[in-house]
Amino acid sequence: MRKVIIAGNWKMFKTQAEAAEFLQGFLPLTEATPEDREIVLCVPFTDLATVSKFLHGNLVRLGAQNVHWEADGAYTGEISAAMLLEQGVRYVIIGHSERRQYFGETNQTVNLRLKAAQQQGLVPILCVGETKEQRDAGTTKQVIAEQLKAGLVDVDLKKLVIAYEPIWAIGTGDTCAAEEANRTIGEIRAQLTNSTVSIQYGGSVKPDNIDEIMAQPEIDGVLVGGASLDAQSFARIANYQG
Ligand code: PGA
Repeated sequence: MRKVIIAGNWKMFKTQAEAAEFLQGFLPLTEATPEDREIVLCVPFTDLATVSKFLHGNLVRLGAQNVHWEADGAYTGEISAAMLLEQGVRYVIIGHSERRQYFGETNQTVNLRLKAAQQQGLVPILCVGETKEQRDAGTTKQVIAEQLKAGLVDVDLKKLVIAYEPIWAIGTGDTCAAEEANRTIGEIRAQLTNSTVSIQYGGSVKPDNIDEIMAQPEIDGVLVGGASLDAQSFARIANYQG
């Protein structure tokens, strides 16, 4: 059985005070969330300790948005797996398109981060997806195939989550049609040697499209940016009707 994972990606939003305010509103709304799904909050590093305290004894899991491949060293601005684990982090987003686009992340550095995260006991959420130009040129399949081939060298598929995030659908309100996302995720699964990997969809997921997205047979959850910042909205997504 593939696990359903509903993950929020807060990106560079929320101070600790704002995170606490969110959780006071959000956690009571998840008390009746069905146990067939796992909720994860991937928060900025400075929020980890605060959010971790709130999540103690709760089923909502803590996630981070990046991890370095070395155990420690002179890597200004980076963070190690041990530092994340100490805060109670279970999941870590790796290779988000914003990191690839603005911070020089490549399939090779993604691969190093994935392997290090797994070796240290974190579950990586690997993001893949095509730009608008690549989609228009009809190269979606090849682009994703290359991201997977290079990114997944020596990566354990049993300890991995993949998020299919078409870049043109991120933060634009321009959601990929549920059937198209389902088809591409099916193609991603066909490329993997293990069919039990959970594959999420990400890109303008909102309360008003979550039920349709989760009704698709290939889609095992969502990675949510903007709509995860509001307690009511993310709770509605986590409590999708399925
Ligand atoms: P969005 O972001 O939901 O705001 O489109 C998704 C993501 O970047 O993970």
